[in-house]
Amino acid sequence: MKFKNPVFLASGIMGETGSSLKRMAKEGAGAVTTKSIGLNPNPGHKNPTIVELDIGLLNAMGLPNPGVNSYIEELEEVRDFIKKLDTKIIGSIYGKNEEEFIEVAKKIEEYVDLIELNISCPHAKGYGMAIGQDPDLSHSICKAVKKSVSVPVFAKLTPNVSNILEIAEALVEAKVDGFVAINTVRGMAIDIRAKKPILSNKFGGLSGKAIKPIGVKVVYDLYENFDKPIIGVGGIYTGEDAIEYIMAGASAVQVGTAVYVRGYDVFKKICEEIKKFLEEENLKLKDIIGIAHE
Ligand code: DHB
Repeated sequence: MKFKNPVFLASGIMGETGSSLKRMAKEGAGAVTTKSIGLNPNPGHKNPTIVELDIGLLNAMGLPNPGVNSYIEELEEVRDFIKKLDTKIIGSIYGKNEEEFIEVAKKIEEYVDLIELNISCPHAKGYGMAIGQDPDLSHSICKAVKKSVSVPVFAKLTPNVSNILEIAEALVEAKVDGFVAINTVRGMAIDIRAKKPILSNKFGGLSGKAIKPIGVKVVYDLYENFDKPIIGVGGIYTGEDAIEYIMAGASAVQVGTAVYVRGYDVFKKICEEIKKFLEEENLKLKDIIGIAHE
């Protein structure tokens, strides 16, 4: 699959509606990823759902989304516009079991270029990470979705495991087409005056600057062990951050927290920064994918 550039919108930010995806496409993202969509409407957790930190964001939204039937109506309205910009759409989906994953995947398939399995949300009981920490569940869900759709299926991995390669291996056996690495890292913040956790869910997922070295290491290990395309994500704010992930083995990157920190034009900025580096080094993007392994 070809993309106009390797800097994509990550799931979870500005992907809650069709019109916000359209806006991110206009801002120059090579692909836009939806907020994770499930079978039924879900209001998510009560506020507070986000804590802003110096090193990133801590969030526990609780997978809020309007449900796949409403969401595809929104995609229907924006997909021609997004296609004209040559921007690809990645549909992030979640479910509590194989049946739910299959149903959502089948419904969303015709509206997206690629499906991203969210088997890595760090705090939704029975969803996300509960699946992504278990190699057998990861395998069966990936296999079931792969059998049900014809678009490529990538799995987004959780770093909250002791052996991520065991999970990746199970997904490769289930014929996953590629990896998205990494999802957020579990964390907590406490309000010392209120003397309790700030998030209504008590804990959440840490994104942003703090998690970049964790993500780079996961991408490096995936590239070393498997022959599958990797989308790197976690703490990418600049072209230099993106290049680190690419040198570790990612063919493209996703940007989430930095959309909030650097603004909506972050995609153009990061693309320019990557271009400048490649010109200075007299290299092409494909030359540096996985170069840190040589
Ligand atoms: C949520 C989902 C995620 O996959 C994640 O990493 C963080 C938060 C959520 O909707 O709560």
